[in-house]
Amino acid sequence: MKISVLKERRAGETRVAATPETVKKLVGLGHTVTIESGAGTVAGFPDSAFTEAGAAIAAGAAAAAAGADIVFKVRRPEPAEIAALPEGSALIALMEPFAYAADEVAALNARKIAGLSMEFTPRITRAQSMDALSSQSNLAGYRAIIEGAQIYGRAMPMMMTAAGTVAPAKVFVMGAGVAGLQAIATARRLGAVVTANDVRPAAKEQVASLGAKFIAVEDEEFKAAETSAGYAKEMSPEYQAKQAALTASHIAKQDIVITTALIPGRAAPVLITEAMVHSMKPGSVIVDMAVSQGGNCPLSKADEIVDVNGVKVAGFSNLPARLPADSSSLYSKNLLAFLPLITGEGGKLNLDTDDEIVKAMLLTRNGATVSERLK
Ligand code: NAI
Repeated sequence: MKISVLKERRAGETRVAATPETVKKLVGLGHTVTIESGAGTVAGFPDSAFTEAGAAIAAGAAAAAAGADIVFKVRRPEPAEIAALPEGSALIALMEPFAYAADEVAALNARKIAGLSMEFTPRITRAQSMDALSSQSNLAGYRAIIEGAQIYGRAMPMMMTAAGTVAPAKVFVMGAGVAGLQAIATARRLGAVVTANDVRPAAKEQVASLGAKFIAVEDEEFKAAETSAGYAKEMSPEYQAKQAALTASHIAKQDIVITTALIPGRAAPVLITEAMVHSMKPGSVIVDMAVSQGGNCPLSKADEIVDVNGVKVAGFSNLPARLPADSSSLYSKNLLAFLPLITGEGGKLNLDTDDEIVKAMLLTRNGATVSERLK
């Protein structure tokens, strides 16, 4: 197959959907790979490294995508970029399926693009190596602590010096999914005293195994809060009120709070109210990882650090993009792991919807919207 990798055009996007390592493997599998010139430069992969790995380089999206069976991207293309995709080709990207406008879906369908959403990779064992939400969230969780520690004007570990003792930072991680667990592990490695919460009971043991203390309202609703897909359910207003009461006094004593709570297809739940921000000490830091899904704190703003009476509320809308080499490397390996599922006999593109993974990820095909979740 001819696989094309396009340069990302979104502001602030530094990642690329292939690396020289994955290109070498794709070429070894018999595919031809064309990279749009400059696609990997920011992530530390110059055109020359892709050429050495066996790719061709083309200038501009249209030239790079010409004749492609499959186009790899990190972010979903905007309507102008869709025009560069060959009619009938397959497109694999983080498609942000819950943020689609009708005209964008129409643009995909007008060109009969088979759009596959990496976010819809089912959470089953066979698909683990393809799960881009996990690979990117893991790095984002790590980076959230690094960013929080950077903004925080004190040290993370306890230090006993001749001039006196520095107390360890108190870090509270709200939401202990993939990102949250990595944030906990990273904060612990830096020497902080860490607490965490979640609404899924499975998280309790995972938090404890990382050496952090679990703080949650463990009522009947909590015991049933995990969907069969492994995600959180939207909690009732009553539960949210109990959760807020439990965490309010805790938050006031924290130095760094990382919020990661998400519910697929819904706005992120508000976990830190304005009053809670005001209860925190000057110099403390909130990193709202859910800022691009509406935020876990109403005061956070995308890609800004808001100062609220000395409390710094940071909203990073794209933390994986702050680690472009690693995030590109893991994302492109997710794509590489997925490719065999859509490679048919003779190495041709075969979108077999009898495969539950392909079926779950396919949004559009032959000019029609086929995803039940997108419809
Ligand atoms: P996510 O990114 O959708 O949400 C982040 C976290 O926020 C979740 O742990 C969620 O329970 C939590 N949350 C939601 N509402 C909350 C609230 N009101 N208060 C506190 N926390 C709240 O979730 P993520 O990280 O993508 O995955 C969740 C779980 O899915 C993982 O921990 C893991 O157990 C499972 N998983 C399974 C995989 C598999 O292949 N079997 C692969 C990846 C994850």
